[in-house]
Amino acid sequence: MADIRVCMFFAVLLVFVAEANVQHEKYNARPAVVATSGSPWPLPRNMTTSQVQYQVNADDFKFTVDAGTPACDIIIQAFVRYKWITFGPRSDTLKFRRRPNKANAVNQLTVHYDKPCDQYLSLESDESYTLAVTGNTATLTANEVWGALRGLETFSQLVLPQGSGMFVINSTLIRDAPRFKHRGVLLDGSRHFLSVLKLKENLEAMAQNKFNVFHWHIVDDQAFPYESIRFPNMSKLGAYDDNHIYSQADIQDIIEFARVRGIRVVPEFDSPGHTQSWGSAISNLLTKCYNNGSFDGSYGPVNPADESSYNFLDSFFGEVANVFPDHYIHLGGDEVDFSCWESNPEITEFMQDKGFGKNYSLLEEFYMQNLLNIVSSYKKGYLIWQEVIDNGAKVAADTVVEVWKIENFFQELSKVTSLGYKTVLAACWYLDHISYGLDWHKYYQCDPRAFDGTSAQKALVIGGETCLWGEYVDDTNVISRLWPRASAIAERLWSDESVNSVSAAEGRMEEHRCRMVRRGFNAQPMNGPGFCPVEFP
Ligand SMILES: *[C@@H]1O[C@H](CO)[C@@H](O)[C@H](O)[C@H]1NC(C)=O
Ligand SMILES: *[C@@H]1O[C@H](CO)[C@@H](O)[C@H](O)[C@H]1NC(C)=O
Ligand SMILES: *[C@@H]1O[C@H](CO)[C@@H](O)[C@H](O)[C@H]1NC(C)=O
Ligand SMILES: *[C@@H]1O[C@H](CO)[C@@H](O)[C@H](O)[C@H]1NC(C)=O
Ligand SMILES: *[C@@H]1O[C@H](CO)[C@@H](O)[C@H](O)[C@H]1NC(C)=O
Repeated sequence: MADIRVCMFFAVLLVFVAEANVQHEKYNARPAVVATSGSPWPLPRNMTTSQVQYQVNADDFKFTVDAGTPACDIIIQAFVRYKWITFGPRSDTLKFRRRPNKANAVNQLTVHYDKPCDQYLSLESDESYTLAVTGNTATLTANEVWGALRGLETFSQLVLPQGSGMFVINSTLIRDAPRFKHRGVLLDGSRHFLSVLKLKENLEAMAQNKFNVFHWHIVDDQAFPYESIRFPNMSKLGAYDDNHIYSQADIQDIIEFARVRGIRVVPEFDSPGHTQSWGSAISNLLTKCYNNGSFDGSYGPVNPADESSYNFLDSFFGEVANVFPDHYIHLGGDEVDFSCWESNPEITEFMQDKGFGKNYSLLEEFYMQNLLNIVSSYKKGYLIWQEVIDNGAKVAADTVVEVWKIENFFQELSKVTSLGYKTVLAACWYLDHISYGLDWHKYYQCDPRAFDGTSAQKALVIGGETCLWGEYVDDTNVISRLWPRASAIAERLWSDESVNSVSAAEGRMEEHRCRMVRRGFNAQPMNGPGFCPVEFP
């Protein structure tokens, strides 16, 4: 024991001696990637900045709409948010130092848009805007309030904190519009429950990256946390426990939080596979699996041969159509395991009656067609995973097919668009797959239109989604695993096709990551060794 103490004493002494001998060169350290300063993410379509720089007085800065603009709660709430997003979380209480030279300052952003506000963003909404910081005035003009929201975000990213409560902005002109209309993030509430608070934090991060679709994969085999109005026992019997349920109030809370940020909430209720958790409440819904001629105690996909299955689906999706205001519902249709259907004598008989022979793809098609008809009857559109098309099902013309399988995904995009369907790409953006190093480069360089096809086919690609499946993700790591890796995809889906150089983007990515950290997100490092300056007062 004594020896160890003596050793430690000398070790410490040595360190002091060593310290004293080192010539510390200030600022000799270098990050792997040097951050830009005042560059927005995702990059606007057309942006010119000049060296002329103005002060921005946080104290009395005003966001306001001009006289001709139809004001609504969406813009009023956005002004409150962007005050603290721009000037820091403590901007309401902190007294900022005011620069004396008010003549050289921008003190107001005047917003104008033409159309009366829609309540919800849709696939048809216009998100374009023009932002001009010229002279001492800043103006933001858009056709719709949604463009104003995107422009506010860009404006907030142009305002640079200088420390000690001071901010500057360069003279800038931006004309901007997204390349794709559907820019989504999938989160999985089934494999692990994600709290309402975390979902909101994620929605805020999405808005700050100009994502506009929250694909809520809310139930799956493992758990059914959705609290149904008509079938409350589905979550009582199918959730992990009583504390891991999204109540109807929670769901409306999420939808409203997303709405005012210009984000659509598209729920997914995946069937006929991925439905084990539905079975405890809805008896006879799932197919009984047989082994050697008798029921073996296990269940497979939804039983497509039983009329009662469709009665249930009609009632359930009638409810879902009411609860979620978006035009689209995601109906899943992926990874259906045929072996249980094959084992079941009732289904074998049904196959014979229908003349399906031994082709279980035809049975799946039969099921999906019935489900699609049910959902159409509630005047909703639908997204489906690619297998539904691969199995030859005929679906309504406004169906959006989500391509997720990594094998030959460009060929799949060619095929789906040649059949005339709209499509979104997810295959190259599965962020639940993690690896060491600079993984964002490959996400950044995956272009959803880089397949062989006519321009009409390419126009059918309406966007993409990044998926963070929940097997290894819960509240503790959802933000840091997703951000800013998802930001790489945000820029791919928003910015021009020509904005695809990693070396041109990496400095902005570095700035963007630090901006997210400054704004309170646990966004992980992306570019190797480096640091974030502390900029807010
Ligand atoms: C971008 O803006 C500049 C300056 O206003 C203009 O000269 C140029 O034509 C614009 N380019 C596009 C593609 O809109
Ligand atoms: C903004 O203006 C400053 C001061 O003139 C200049 O150093 C900087 O390069 C400008 N930034 C951009 C993005 O133009
Ligand atoms: C769950 O509720 C539905 C609708 O009320 C009912 O038909 C079903 O029998 C219930 N399931 C169980 C296991 O009690
Ligand atoms: C299947 O059932 C037959 C007759 O009951 C029995 O002889 C055979 O061992 C069973 N095979 C398996 C794999 O369980
Ligand atoms: C099953 O039916 C589908 C749809 O008609 C068809 O494309 C496929 O070739 C069939 N499979 C077999 C094994 O016959």
